[in-house]
Amino acid sequence: MVILGIETSCDETAVAIIAVSGIGAKPRVSVLSNVVSSQVKLHAKFGGVVPHLAKREHQRNLVPVLLTALKEAGLRNPKSEALSSKQIQNAKLKILSSILAREQDLFARMVPEVLPRPAPKIDAIAVTVGPGLAPALWVGVNFARALAFLWKKPLIPINHLEGHIYTNVLPHIRVNSKFQIPPKESLRDPTGRANSKTLPIPYSPFPIKFPALCLIVSGGHTELVLMRRYGDYRVIGETRDDAAGEAFDKVAKMMHLGFPGGPVISKLAESGNVKAFSFPRPMINSKDFHFSFSGLKTAVLYTLRGLKRVDAKTKQNIAASFERAVVDVLVSKTIRAARHYKVKTVMIGGGVAANMRLRSQLAKALRGLSPVPHTLFPAISLTGDNALMIALAGYFNRNKKSAWKNLQADANLRLDRIRGR
Ligand code: KG4
Ligand code: ZN
Repeated sequence: MVILGIETSCDETAVAIIAVSGIGAKPRVSVLSNVVSSQVKLHAKFGGVVPHLAKREHQRNLVPVLLTALKEAGLRNPKSEALSSKQIQNAKLKILSSILAREQDLFARMVPEVLPRPAPKIDAIAVTVGPGLAPALWVGVNFARALAFLWKKPLIPINHLEGHIYTNVLPHIRVNSKFQIPPKESLRDPTGRANSKTLPIPYSPFPIKFPALCLIVSGGHTELVLMRRYGDYRVIGETRDDAAGEAFDKVAKMMHLGFPGGPVISKLAESGNVKAFSFPRPMINSKDFHFSFSGLKTAVLYTLRGLKRVDAKTKQNIAASFERAVVDVLVSKTIRAARHYKVKTVMIGGGVAANMRLRSQLAKALRGLSPVPHTLFPAISLTGDNALMIALAGYFNRNKKSAWKNLQADANLRLDRIRGR
């Protein structure tokens, strides 16, 4: 089964293709391509993601990203003059233009590049339908609908957060208990063994032992998700205000460190003193599994206001103390939930899952549980938004297909209420 994944929920335009063999008995996944075009530099000028600019960029980038992904996978067909009669072409054009009525720029790019190519040998198209920024999501959804119509392929609607969860089942290299960032070319092969010139190595997804818990931490979400089996999600805790990644981004903004804030704060934190400032750990002792980060962010703001001078060392110390406060809360709540639900697997996902302090502290705390749950962490290269995770989620949802006419984006889609299922 060959699945093409599409992701446009925020500021990455991504297309990936996987091939899965041995479905049922022992599935083997080959990553044929995994292309991500990031808009981060554009949005950095505005200090955050600007939805209408994201929509514009997705429209510009989707066709070239798709063609690159198809080419890398060896599935890009050359343009063919004699595809169908003029009459059929005109009828197709009419439907295509109605599907892409709100994405005229994308339509204009599809006509010369996609329409004249025969359908590639794929079996389904998995696409992120939510949650995310509505204008960004709709471009990807309508693009997927247009491809499904042109190529006569089924669509699989995917929750973006479900994608983040499935990044945990991909094997990757682990060196000295630290999670090595795999070399760039290994994006084609998460084991890190192949380079871009060799064929992708098929691998078996790690099995998730249930009940399983996943901490999803990104720029828009902070959720603890309990899974009783594949496809069964219960959100047992979530943030009351800011998401963890958002807190990193806002604190970075206060210190004029640019966007996104997570990577720069965690880099600075490496040279800072985690005890230099004592920041609050909101809701750390509450008996539930919810989070809150806005009080912590405000505490950093007041601390900065109270300082006469914020030199490089102070920034490092603030970064380290702030990061420690966030990680303490995330780890404490995850451990509480792991104990309470006696989970057998613990996973993490989303942009903040790249944070080394979170990884090491959580792994350490989990080793203190008895029995120690099976711990799966994703490759760093897959923590940010990508379409490989969407294609993989498509595999796990391969029986939940949708026709192109019925598919809709839902900016507020929840993991425990997946549309159309
Ligand atoms: O999952 P993601 O790529 O996009 C969303 O769906 O939101 O997550 C992006 C978020 C940003 O807030 C970014 O600052 C944060 O992940 N992030 C980090 C790190 N790398 C990215 N936060 C903490 N530490 C990091 N190393
Ligand atoms: Zn994400």
